[in-house]
Amino acid sequence: MIKYINNELHIEKVSFSSIAEKYGTAAYVYSKNQIINNLHAYQKALKPADGLICFACKTNSNGQILKLLAKHGAGADTVSGGEIFRALRAGFDPSKIVFAGVGKTAEEIEYALKAKILMFNVESFEELEVINKIAGRLKVKAKIAFRINPNVDPDTHSYIVTGKKGTKFGIPYEEAFEAYLIASKMKNIIPVSIHTHIGSQITDVAPFKLAAKKIKKLADDIENAGIKLEYINCGGGLGIDYSGEDPAPKPKRLMDEIFSIFGKGKKFIFEPGRSIIGNAGHLLAKVIYRKISGDKNFLITDAAMNDLIRPTLYEAYHDIVPVKKTNAKKVKTDVVGPICESGDFMGKDRMLPVLDQGELLLVKCAGAYGAAMSSEYNSRPLLPEILVDGNKAALIRKRATYESLLLNEI
Ligand code: LLP
Repeated sequence: MIKYINNELHIEKVSFSSIAEKYGTAAYVYSKNQIINNLHAYQKALKPADGLICFACKTNSNGQILKLLAKHGAGADTVSGGEIFRALRAGFDPSKIVFAGVGKTAEEIEYALKAKILMFNVESFEELEVINKIAGRLKVKAKIAFRINPNVDPDTHSYIVTGKKGTKFGIPYEEAFEAYLIASKMKNIIPVSIHTHIGSQITDVAPFKLAAKKIKKLADDIENAGIKLEYINCGGGLGIDYSGEDPAPKPKRLMDEIFSIFGKGKKFIFEPGRSIIGNAGHLLAKVIYRKISGDKNFLITDAAMNDLIRPTLYEAYHDIVPVKKTNAKKVKTDVVGPICESGDFMGKDRMLPVLDQGELLLVKCAGAYGAAMSSEYNSRPLLPEILVDGNKAALIRKRATYESLLLNEI
């Protein structure tokens, strides 16, 4: 939903220049219709079966974006009490909220039980015992899935691999059957599902298939032991095309594979995040200064690693384009922020046109894990967020201020 019209880059029908003029830079800008289309692609692919598309709130937890997704029928995949709070505030039906994470605290578990969420994705025996105990005290039954670690290598950045042996995630595959037997005998626990999530930014369906086959075998064993699994939760993880040269499979492709393994008789849960919001959001920045150091050209922008940590943390690639199309000659350029760290870059060695001070750049596909992972490092106030719908742009988060930097200090 971004394209050049009369040499000016637009998102839907709004030019990024007009957004910069009205809201300043740097800023996160989202396309409402791209978000809805991405969600609909999942919902349509799920149609042949029953179940839920639970948006992974960690990717972007802006209230208006959550509200939009809730309104269009999504459920929520949450990983903290704070995310459950945000999801409820945004209008998600509690019966569509799942709660994952290796370190749920007793307070968070109690909060989730009181909110009557759909289920917990349990990651250890100790957690199971705590849930059982709190549910007993509250006189409720807790529905659970075990998150299974299937020991599958998803071939992605090592920091976002979760389904391999030796990571902190889930119950080891070999212990999973026993775990269900134990859980089924607990007074306040009802096992209703089986869950796995092998990693993120996965652009090949093969690892998903491998994990699904393993989970299917386990699910059959569990059901043969008399424990009924109402839901199969396949987690999130479908990647997106950050470079324009690495096409990722579509939701339908993934789900058709999943259905061919499990059949369509079950209810399925998918927890996509990146593939719903990633390509719908972009980071708009302005060139503050230019400089040449050694044989390198630098564009120093008003967006920095505190605003978008992905390039620094995962050496992630985000395409960077000028907002005004130009025929200026292209030179090899590092796009960097003002922070005093060599890791403060948006992109390295990019062939970009020679730009002037004050010109705008777009760091593309930053909607997922962009604003959500930003910080106020260097006392740089958090960026505003803008949601575009057709020819309308709406501010959905104000730019933080110097005053707000001090908000909780005593
Ligand atoms: N479900 C669970 C249990 C997860 O842990 C995650 C992401 C998701 C679903 C959503 O995965 P997605 O569809 O977005 O791939 N900050 C990193 C990514 C961390 C992923 C953590 N888990 C990044 O910026 O690449």
